[in-house]
Parts: sequence; structure tokens; C-alpha cells
Amino acid sequence: MSAPFTRLRRLRTTPAMRRLVAETRLHPAQLVLPMFVADGIDSPRPITSMPGVVQHTAESLVVAAREAVAAGVGGLMLFGVPKDAGKDAVGSGADDPDGVLNRALRLLRDDLGDSTVLMADTCLDEFTDHGHCGVLDGQGRVDNDATLPRYESMALAQARAGAHVVSPSGMMDGQVGAIRAALDDAGFTDVSILAYTAKYASAFYGPFREAVGSSLQGDRRTYQQDTANRLESARELLADLDEGADMVMVKPAMSYLDIVRDVADRTDAPVVAYQISGEYSMIAGAGANGWIDADAAFDEAVLSIARAGASIILTYAAVDVARRLSERL
Ligand code: PBG
Repeated sequence: MSAPFTRLRRLRTTPAMRRLVAETRLHPAQLVLPMFVADGIDSPRPITSMPGVVQHTAESLVVAAREAVAAGVGGLMLFGVPKDAGKDAVGSGADDPDGVLNRALRLLRDDLGDSTVLMADTCLDEFTDHGHCGVLDGQGRVDNDATLPRYESMALAQARAGAHVVSPSGMMDGQVGAIRAALDDAGFTDVSILAYTAKYASAFYGPFREAVGSSLQGDRRTYQQDTANRLESARELLADLDEGADMVMVKPAMSYLDIVRDVADRTDAPVVAYQISGEYSMIAGAGANGWIDADAAFDEAVLSIARAGASIILTYAAVDVARRLSERL
């Protein structure tokens, strides 16, 4: 047996060597922090199923947003949590300029200006009393075409409140085109659309339901994608790009890295991936139990999502990951 001629371990010998040959590099500016702001609470409320994540008051939101920006995080994605009494069948709180999300957007834009990228979730589920992402027809089914005008109105309210980016996440057909046309007609030609392009019906959204106090009974399988499908995401991508999406998202991230790669191979538009609530909680929860090193696991997971092809990553661990990245820069 002769000694191996090719020794791949040579390039792994020291930290400096590994740093030199690293194929994927992450920068804090690629990270986006999702944040929750709730109506009717007077101090931040911990989300028990997401250790370390809270529903913010308006005041604590501003403080946390400044902290994230100071840590170098590239953007903020905002979700609103209205009071139960504020919910109705059509999600009126979503496009009410005084609704919790729009008030918070105005506050953050006033405070942070253009120093970060302010993104808003453009979806009705937090605001409907049935918890679905759209309005329902007479038989209780989610009505695609009746939902589109609601999204248009919501996106307009968010643009008026100061969102740089609106993010339709409801998986209605035609949502990107409808929103683009509504924004353009109102003169918001510079407001970008981050499309939730490939969004799968996932068990990993579990903790998010607590995070937004969701009223949902049942599931979203008539509008979110089936886990079994890969090619379908390519069709969703074509549709969203055709309708004017500026950035495209794959969600969840960790069980769908093949989809992230597919989408990245098929478009030159920025590819975004969302490490969602359940993916966060698995790592944070295991870390809290001493079963894994959560910091190292978050760093590894986020880097893996980037390696798969995402250039922008939403993660609830964005601030900590950004700080660790900066220490190593
Ligand atoms: C819809 C929306 C959801 C998430 C982001 N936008 C919930 C859903 O589709 O069921 C989930 C995010 C997460 O789980 O972290 N408004």
C-alpha cells in the first residue's frame, strides 16, 4: 500500500488555512431579523416556544431594532400581533394605518430612516379571526381572488407607513403582480417586493402560531406547497419573477436546502431563505437543555443555508450570529 498522493487534509491544518480556502463566507449584512410587535401589552412578552424571542411593545421594539442595526444585521422583518378583539373575517387591522403593524413600521422608519432595510410581512393571518392567510368564501375555503385586493390594500398601507420592502407570504396566485400594480399606481415604484416564492406547508411553523397568537384551526395545505414537490417551486419562481418580484424566498430553510439550491441555480435575483420558528426552537431548545452547543449550531445552520445558495437569510438568531461573525472579521 503506497501512501496517499492526494492529501485533502493539508488544507485543513490550521484555522488560518481553513479561513483561506473557505468557499462560503457570511457577512452580518446578509442576515435579517424577524421581529414581533404586539398590541395591548406593557412589557415585552416572552414567547415560551421560542426561547429568547419576545413579542415587543412599541418601545422595546425600537430598542431591539437599534441593537440589531448596531450589530450589523442587514434588515428587519416585522410581524404585527393585534389583540384578539381587533381581529375580524377580512383582517381589517392589516391595512388600518393605525393597526399595530403599520404603527410600528412608521415608528421604526422615523427612528432608523434608511440606515436599515425595513421589511413587512404582507399577509392576513395575524389579523383574521379564522387565522387563514386570505379571506374565506361561503364554504369556508380560502378565496384566492377575493384576497388579492386585501393584499394590495395592506401593501399600500405598509408602503405609506415606511416599509422599504413588502413581503407577500400568503401563497395566493397572482399576489406579487397584484401588489406590484397597486404600488406602482400609487407612486410607490421604489418599494421592493420580497416574494415568499417557495413556501411549504410545514410542521416547523408551530412556534410561530404562539408568537403571533394565531387563531388558526386546521392547516394551510390548500395554499402552501406540499413537501413532496420540487419542480413546483420552479414554477412558483417563474410566476413570481414574471409578476415583478425583486427578491425570492424559500421557506422553511433547513429541510428545504435542495429547493434553495434549485432556486439559486435558476435565477440571478437575490435568493432569500427563512430559518423559521421551529427550526430556531429546535436549536435553541436543545441548547437550553445542554444537548448541543446552540451558538455553534446556529452558526453552522446559517452557513449551510448560505452554502446551499441563499444570499440573504432570515433567522431569529440574527443578532447573535452577526456579533460572532463580526468578531471573526
Ligand atoms: C404568514 C407567515 C408565517 C410565517 C411567516 N409568515 C406563518 C405561516 O405561514 O403559517 C412563519 C414564520 C416562522 O415560522 O418563523 N404570515
